Amino acid sequence: MNDRHDLQLLLKSGPPIVVVETADEQRFLQLLIQLATSASADAYRPLYRWTITDGLQRIDLDLEPQRHNSDPQEGLRHIRAVRKPGIYALLDFHPFLADPLNVRLLKDIAIEGQSRGLVLLLISHSIQLPAELESLSARFEMRLPGAAERHAIVQREIDSHAEEVGREVHVDPQALDLLIGTLGGLPHSDVERLARSAVRQDGAITADDVPAVMQAKYRLLNRGGVLGYEHDTASLADVAGFRGVKVWLQQRRLAFTHDPPPGLDPPKGILLIGVQGCGKSLAARAAAGALNVPLLRLDFGSLYDKYHGETERNLRDSLRTAETMSPCVLWLDEIEKGVATGHDESGTSRRVLGSLLTWMAESRSRVLLVATANDVAQLPPELVRKGRFDEIFFVDLPSPTQRADIFAIHLRRRGLDPETFDLPRLVTATDGFSGAEIEQAVVAALYAAHAVRQAPTARHLLAEVGRTRPLSVVMAERVASLRRWAKDRTVPAD
Ligand SMILES: Nc1ncnc2c1ncn2[C@@H]1O[C@H](COP(=O)(O)OP(=O)(O)OP(=O)(O)O)[C@@H](O)[C@H]1O
Ligand SMILES: [Mg+2]
Repeated sequence: MNDRHDLQLLLKSGPPIVVVETADEQRFLQLLIQLATSASADAYRPLYRWTITDGLQRIDLDLEPQRHNSDPQEGLRHIRAVRKPGIYALLDFHPFLADPLNVRLLKDIAIEGQSRGLVLLLISHSIQLPAELESLSARFEMRLPGAAERHAIVQREIDSHAEEVGREVHVDPQALDLLIGTLGGLPHSDVERLARSAVRQDGAITADDVPAVMQAKYRLLNRGGVLGYEHDTASLADVAGFRGVKVWLQQRRLAFTHDPPPGLDPPKGILLIGVQGCGKSLAARAAAGALNVPLLRLDFGSLYDKYHGETERNLRDSLRTAETMSPCVLWLDEIEKGVATGHDESGTSRRVLGSLLTWMAESRSRVLLVATANDVAQLPPELVRKGRFDEIFFVDLPSPTQRADIFAIHLRRRGLDPETFDLPRLVTATDGFSGAEIEQAVVAALYAAHAVRQAPTARHLLAEVGRTRPLSVVMAERVASLRRWAKDRTVPAD
């Protein structure tokens, strides 16, 4: 089955109005012309296109446009008056559907023309069909190119570039495979365009084309959306502790980036709950880095933003975009802010929660959710019930070993050798510190040392540590209640 076959059936025996939402108008018209001109003599119908700029124009024969009927109403009256079979492709007619006269004219044409083989095609990027016309219409969707077709498109671009520059295009087979996978979920014209720029950019297909195509794809899919593409992922080595999370990720790595072996369900996702500043967001970034897939971040703030309009629709669109970008990590940061149902009068966040839970239960796509939260009082119980997430990890204040690792990571990142610092002393002095507070102490100590033109030492660090009153002291009660809550509901992240 293909587009051509489906469209042929629809034009032959479908309703008199066909709605086509596409960004690929030219390709669709090509398809129509092919169909029209290959029809047998007794089934032949003339094919017209109408636009506000040119009026009606016969395109199966390539005749001159008849500009006098470029006015929408004139155009429709003309079509109505021609009492013959024909296929009329109305391009970008959607704004004129707001006029009741046009709607009635379309209905008249459809009813009167039905028996003599007249079909009206409404072709626009997006169409809201008035209810009056629904029962006389069907929708046609052009299929997105499958893997074989994408391969053919990329190959065509490679060949044409090679011919143009007069030398072979270097193609790394693995990068080609990745590129073909990445181009999935996009319409023909976008596949062609992205493939072309990948080939032409450096005259080769190599691994470094893939991230650029991935980002371009994301921009195409998320026009005006609320999903952020995070360029800044981390590696597992950037995260101290989190041993449980790391093992979890490593065990699922292969099943996630390739088709899962029979009997293994694709992983759905994890929830990281815990103390502020202890690396939850960092771990979400590292999940994408470890799996080597894009990281998309759903910002609940803009999900609810009035400017962005309907909240649930935003969520659905974002989830769909994530599915098309899969395999990917979808990061729901501070999820409690999006689904807290406590003081919500309109019921929106309850519906958002409902949509999210339904999607989590039904989606089979390779979108790994990594949700983070630090306020358990606001977390709806439905979300933390068994079976929603694959695992709920509790992120506690770092242990002594973890603190030593955090110091080492952040010193090394700033070009310093941790071996030259008295780590055991620093670890003892930072009991109750979060990772963020340790990092902050390192940053401040470096400035302090720089100001007096000294090389940073443990002494500078200890001085900063001494000045800090960690959150765990300020909010001791909160941390204690978080731990109580987590005891029976979660597993330790480390
Ligand atoms: N385990 C850790 N290993 C390495 N660095 C850490 C760790 N924990 C925290 N940090 C440092 O602290 C910074 C802040 O941590 P992060 O934002 O991930 O915490 P969080 O748990 O998401 O906090 P919040 O609840 O406030 O969102 C990180 O970017 C990182 O530099
Ligand atoms: Mg965070």
